[in-house]
Amino acid sequence: MTQLEPLRTVDENTTILGIETSCDETAASVVVGGHVVRSSVVSSQVDIHARYGGVVPEVASRAHVDVLMPVVAEALVEAGLDGSGLDAVAATYGPGLVGSLLVGVSTAKALALVWDLPFVAVNHLEAHLYAALVEDPTLELPLVVLLVSGGHTMLVAMEGHGRYRLLGATLDDAAGEAFDKVARYLGLGYPGGPAIDRIAMEGDPAAIAFPRAMKGDGLDFSFSGLKTSVINYVRKHPEVSTPDVAASFQEAVVDVLVTKARRAARQIGAKGLILGGGVAANSLLRERFLSACVDDGIHGFLPSRAMCTDNAAMVGAAAWWRLGTHGPDGLDHGADPNLGLPLLTD
Ligand code: KG4
Ligand code: ZN
Repeated sequence: MTQLEPLRTVDENTTILGIETSCDETAASVVVGGHVVRSSVVSSQVDIHARYGGVVPEVASRAHVDVLMPVVAEALVEAGLDGSGLDAVAATYGPGLVGSLLVGVSTAKALALVWDLPFVAVNHLEAHLYAALVEDPTLELPLVVLLVSGGHTMLVAMEGHGRYRLLGATLDDAAGEAFDKVARYLGLGYPGGPAIDRIAMEGDPAAIAFPRAMKGDGLDFSFSGLKTSVINYVRKHPEVSTPDVAASFQEAVVDVLVTKARRAARQIGAKGLILGGGVAANSLLRERFLSACVDDGIHGFLPSRAMCTDNAAMVGAAAWWRLGTHGPDGLDHGADPNLGLPLLTD
């Protein structure tokens, strides 16, 4: 059985405080041994940004400054610890909004300094890959991860710790971005994904045959044509039922995502297929994904919705592996808003 093994310096008792502030969630978590979550606190700014119809970067970083220390304090109290019970402090350093990232990175470095602990800089995309391993550390490799969030749509082959191959990615909008833009156009508010998910339950997914872009082609995705065709359809048919549009749009997105994910799993002979990122909270995607895995005889794993959306438990988990394989990072480490997933090139 192939399983991930950390190389050094960490063990099952290594206790890490993880911090996540890359976008509009302020989160802190205490994770032991890479997967035992002692506490996970998430403070969402969604109500603050809703009135603007999207995340306002300057507002986001100020809100992180206001709530991060109380969120950290709550995570420590829930875990029954103070700084002396920790072995490292970790924070997401990219990708994301630079001002928001800097709040988390600076706070984590300051705490590491005063508590005399190692600091670990965590890649947000890598953290999303580890979310499933927090809930099921026995998952066997290689895995295919369908990572679908507001900023990313990727099919990643996970061969080992830090050993990732990009199998497919979006050529334009991310899946979550398409949900958010279509919801905005339909007047469903922000964030769009959960709004479409809810209203689609009252609609007919077969009402409108929206295009399935690139369904027959490779493993890349494209969602901007679908978004445009939803807009054009509603312009031409203003009387159309909004739940039908939402359900038909969601059906088209999920159809493409599931088709490509199972194709990727077949292509690399994956032992498991897992979902990650905010869009993985989508009810239809979760249902179709699991039934595709059953049909294909592959182990499918759906992390809980709380683990799919931005949280700090996945940061604490990714930090445990990174500390074990790469050691700590320097206190001069900055934020990188455009950070990509470290990929194998051979
Ligand atoms: O991973 P995430 O919390 O933040 C990053 O982008 O990193 O993902 C947020 C995205 C948003 O676009 C949101 O609309 C989408 O995930 N989302 C959903 C659902 N819940 C959140 N999309 C579809 N259905 C949902 N239930
Ligand atoms: Zn995310």
